[in-house]
Formats: sequence, C-alpha cells, structure tokens
Amino acid sequence: MKTIDIGILGLGTVGSGVVKILQDNAQKITDITGCKLNVKTVVVRDVTAKRNVDLTGIELTDDFTKLVTDDDIKIVVEVMGTVETARGYIKQLLNAKKHVVTANKDLIAQHGPELSELAKQNHCDLFYEASVAGGIPILRTIVNSFAADQVESVLGIVNGTTNFILTQMTQNGLSYAQALKLAQEKGFAEADPTNDVKGKDAAYKMIILTQFAFGKDITVNDVKLEGIDGVQLADINEAAQLGYTIKLLGIAKLIDDKLDVSVGPVLVPSSRPLAAIQNENNAVLVTGKAVGETMFYGPGAGELPTANSVLSDIIAVTKDIVLETTGSRFNDYVKNVALAPASD
Ligand code: HSE
Repeated sequence: MKTIDIGILGLGTVGSGVVKILQDNAQKITDITGCKLNVKTVVVRDVTAKRNVDLTGIELTDDFTKLVTDDDIKIVVEVMGTVETARGYIKQLLNAKKHVVTANKDLIAQHGPELSELAKQNHCDLFYEASVAGGIPILRTIVNSFAADQVESVLGIVNGTTNFILTQMTQNGLSYAQALKLAQEKGFAEADPTNDVKGKDAAYKMIILTQFAFGKDITVNDVKLEGIDGVQLADINEAAQLGYTIKLLGIAKLIDDKLDVSVGPVLVPSSRPLAAIQNENNAVLVTGKAVGETMFYGPGAGELPTANSVLSDIIAVTKDIVLETTGSRFNDYVKNVALAPASD
C-alpha cells in the first residue's frame, strides 16, 4: 500500500486536532483513499512546549527546511497563522512541489490568487476549506454543488466571536466588554480581537467566498466594512422589541449585475433562521438562480471542527496524487462580474 508522508507547520489548536483525527480515523481514511497517511514531521517554534496530543513516531523540530528538503513529504499542512512568514514558507513549499493545505484565512484573503497561481505552475494542490466558517464545508460545496448554477448571493454569519458577543448581549444581558472577555477566554477570538469586532475577519472570509461564488478576486478595500464595536445593549433591546435580532452579516450579492460585498451589523427579522444562530456558530446562505436559497450551519471555529475541514482537504489532495490530477485551482471557474463601488 502507498504511504503518503505529511508535514505539519504549527501545532496549536488546529494542528493538534489534525493529528488526533488522523490517529483516530486512520483505518477509515485508508479505506477511502487507498493510502496510509503518515504524519512524519511537525515544525513548531518551541520543541520543549507541553503538547496535548500523542506524538509517538512523529519528528518534532523547529527546522522548517526539513519540510522543504524531505522528498518523502508530499503534503504540508500550514496551521501556524501569520501572513508574511506563512506566505514565504508556502512559496518555498510549492516551489519544492509540495501540496499545501492551509487554514489561514488572513493569508488566503490577501495572497490567495498569487499562491494559487504558483501552485498551478508547480502542478501542486493548494486547498483551504478550513479558512472559511471552520467546520462548515462551504467552499467545496460551492465548487461542486453550484458548478452548474449561477450564484446570486452568498451571505451569513462567518465570524463566531461577534456572533457570540451579540448572543450573550441579547440573551444574558452582558455588556459588550463582558461578552468580548468571555469570547477571549473561550478561545475563539483572534489573539488580537480587533479584526473580529471591527469586521475584518468576516471581510477576509467574504473575500474568499466571493472568489468561490462569483469567480472574482477582490481586496478588503472592496468590502464595505462596519464592526459591532458600536452596538449598545440598548440597540439590541430596541431591535428585539420591534421583532429583530442584530447579527454581523457578511453579504456578497449581485445588484443589477454588479457585485456588492459588505460586512456589518444587520437587523434580521427574529423569525428568520439566521436570527436563531447562537454563540460561536456560523451559518452561510447561498442562493442560486436554479436551486434557490440554501443554508449551511455549523461550528465556525474549534479544534476538531476546523481540523475536520483540513482533513477533507488532505483527503482531496491524496485522491489527486493517486489519480495524478494535482495542480488545478481550488476555485477554477471565472466569471467576469463587475464590482459595485465600495463607497456606495
Ligand atoms: N476568530 C474567528 C471567529 C476564528 O471568531 O470566527 C475562526 O476563524
């Protein structure tokens, strides 16, 4: 049986989850792919740190170059975070003909097209299902299940931290500051939660969703952006009395054939399913011309949900390796849709 060696870059929450799922479901993964997937090397900053995962038989090192130079390693999982360092590493890996799976939304939102092009040139896969909406398999769903349809809009709750804050303010009467502190303690806020509460994290996810739904590469400057840091308890209570729930929504939709992308607090009628999405959960609604409105719901962050999305990418790469079909872009279709002015 073919063994495929895997390298992992970073062993935080998601990296540990990837190792655990690979260990727990090894036989099923082998049955599906016909290959044995073996984590050979994990690169971390501090090899002495205590780890919450069984690393028996796995080399732990702080030497990134091992992932580049080891010919046995075919797939590298990047879950270290950061933008510029990860970008440099991924470029080296792709140039060394390694297939790359990443959960790094900040990186993909800012440099996805450049890295996808580099992957294609090197006949490598670059997949990033976990970069949007954690455990919800939304990117591959758009690629596969909307391939023959025309997407009219993709919108939803794509940031768990802000949804958690708004839920806690609405249901438990917590102040904005108390709810944010709780989100940080629970570990799903970014290290610096500014990107969460100001809507930038959601904007990054909408940039990636826009690439998949509309085949359009946009930047954060194309997204009309407002966070939830101005939302008061009084606003939430007043909205509730009128039958609305305040949610931070990302919205990408065609208006008169122009693409309009925004992130901001929206009054959602409390009877709508989106209003019922609680705490750190995410939900994405994709509306297609043929299929109508569809909704995808699930955990937007967390060790095993996010790792499960990473695993779906690893399995997709493995199948491509076996079938010798690596090197196509994750979102391959391109549609020439114009962008509405961001200042509208
Ligand atoms: N800070 C992000 C969120 C983590 O709250 O959604 C998952 O991307």
